[in-house]
Amino acid sequence: MNRKYRKTIIAGNFKMNKLPSEIRAFAEELKTLVPRARWCETVICAPFVDLPLGMKYLKEARISVGAQNMSEHPKGAYTGEVSGEMLRDLKVKYVIIGHSERRQYFGETDLTVNEKVKAALELGLQPIVCVGESARQRELGLTEALINYQVRAALAGVTEEQIRKVVIAYEPIWAIGTGNTATAEQANEVNRTIRSIIRGLYGARTARATTILYGGSMNEKNAYELLAQPDIDGGLIGGASLVPEKFAAIINAANQE
Ligand code: PGA
Repeated sequence: MNRKYRKTIIAGNFKMNKLPSEIRAFAEELKTLVPRARWCETVICAPFVDLPLGMKYLKEARISVGAQNMSEHPKGAYTGEVSGEMLRDLKVKYVIIGHSERRQYFGETDLTVNEKVKAALELGLQPIVCVGESARQRELGLTEALINYQVRAALAGVTEEQIRKVVIAYEPIWAIGTGNTATAEQANEVNRTIRSIIRGLYGARTARATTILYGGSMNEKNAYELLAQPDIDGGLIGGASLVPEKFAAIINAANQE
């Protein structure tokens, strides 16, 4: 973390978990566990149907609300999709774009990710853009080249004004939901690479101000060490975000001196 230059964000990704009827209790429990004075912004990215109640109860617990996806299209005949304008209408702040599960199971490509990022930014939503390599790509020494491509593709056409609203999350696929966290050094190295790509595209000042998260089996045990790294500005947390005690412990790790 580097609080002097950029915001620290601890974002939970509920994935396809938590019923609308469970949101209130979760928010109230988390509120009692996390102290008021905090240096990081806490976000929960909830399923679409949880968002209306999330806007009420999570906000009351001082938690920002995000979605996990949105359509790249503004409106129209796209059965089953949810538009960015619908999210904005609810006053949702963040939206995860290009999570590896979306890429793997729902056919999202770097080009659709780019369209979604631009659509989100045009509506004033803050995208949390996910990038990350598979185990095989890492083995073959392709991590840096892949990350370079994914970041450039996601940000193609994003203006200097808009980039200030973008959060990037490095999520190695091999670490997601597996219990195999990247070591703090591995994660920091890729986050540093991402920052240098942003520096090349938008300059040093912007790169220094960009929040770059790590995600992949982050939990209450490893959070402290990961967050102590200079280029890891927070976490995108799946499994551990579902349990208030664990999520609160990660938030507290982000409040370390
Ligand atoms: P995990 O998921 O923390 O359960 O590994 C992270 C993510 O997919 O965002």
